[in-house]
Amino acid sequence: MFLDRFKSFKEYKTETTPCKIKLSSNELPFELSEDLKEKIAKAVSKIPFERYPDPTYNQLKEILANFYGVSPENITVGNGSDELIDILIKAVGDLKNPVMYPVPTFPMYQVSADIINRPKVEFFLDENFQLDKEKLDEAISKNPHLAFFASPNNPTGNSFNKELIKYTASKNIFTVVDEAYINFSNKESFLKEALEPDNNIVVIRTLSKIGLASIRLGVLIADKETVKIIDKIRPPFNVTYPTAEIAKIVLTEGRKEIEEKINIVKEERDRIIGELKEIKSIKVYPSDANFYLIKVENANEIHKKLIEKGILTRNMSHLPNMENCLRVSVGKPEENDVFIKALKEIV
Ligand SMILES: Cc1ncc(COP(=O)(O)O)c(C=O)c1O
Repeated sequence: MFLDRFKSFKEYKTETTPCKIKLSSNELPFELSEDLKEKIAKAVSKIPFERYPDPTYNQLKEILANFYGVSPENITVGNGSDELIDILIKAVGDLKNPVMYPVPTFPMYQVSADIINRPKVEFFLDENFQLDKEKLDEAISKNPHLAFFASPNNPTGNSFNKELIKYTASKNIFTVVDEAYINFSNKESFLKEALEPDNNIVVIRTLSKIGLASIRLGVLIADKETVKIIDKIRPPFNVTYPTAEIAKIVLTEGRKEIEEKINIVKEERDRIIGELKEIKSIKVYPSDANFYLIKVENANEIHKKLIEKGILTRNMSHLPNMENCLRVSVGKPEENDVFIKALKEIV
């Protein structure tokens, strides 16, 4: 009875069909090196498992700060950026005032708002998946206190107009720039803006897209006062001890390795997009991320046929303005070759 309102709840859905080649969740396709895994195993074996982790996460924050080129006081951490999104939706502004975000975008903004019945203002992107000033103004007129912009955006892959994001923040709206995919983009980040006090802009990042999706570590970067408050309200031990230890090793000793892999993904993305452009019956959209969006003639059928060939992609057809679209993560070079060959055979 108490949970009845969730019976028809629009939950977060993911692809779970087991497939040999998984191009559905925008993870980094490469494993950590054996050398790094050995270092991690050693560090993890020394964890006092019976103890809670350090609730300040000061050591972890220092390493993250160094990785992102900011101060530790500008950083707080979450159990994935999903948790940070959830905390912000529960905490920022008056909960009677809506959360705004463009559609299509990352579904967790909607999910977290719906759990607490917070009103939402969803507004459409234009035909190139870019922010549209008129629609943005209409959304702003509904008096939202919080805005989310995933840039590069998931599932479209493009980055948003920076000036229009700043414009939103200038309207006295707490503006979150979700930079989950920024490592794959050559566009400017909002890090500098996030450090300034009183401009209503914060950034969230994640380690999930750069090789560590398993450990669930999200990062909020903001001015010191905002960080202090989020630190006060996040659950005290929200990041596990093993997560913190693994992140510390990978972001220091494994940094070069991670950066090399990111570069391979960027090169592969550009190569694949070039090759897919040659196929007449599909449209491939430009991407600043570690995935790309394609529009095909019959997405449901092609998605199914790809699964039969052992390749899992994400079918986006059910989302608004995403008719017949599939989202495909960049895989290892050999996986990308198999995907392109399979797609050509099917279409
Ligand atoms: C735009 C965006 N933000 C956040 C996330 C979630 O990241 P995390 O794994 O850190 O919870 C994703 C995951 O796909 C994403 O696409």
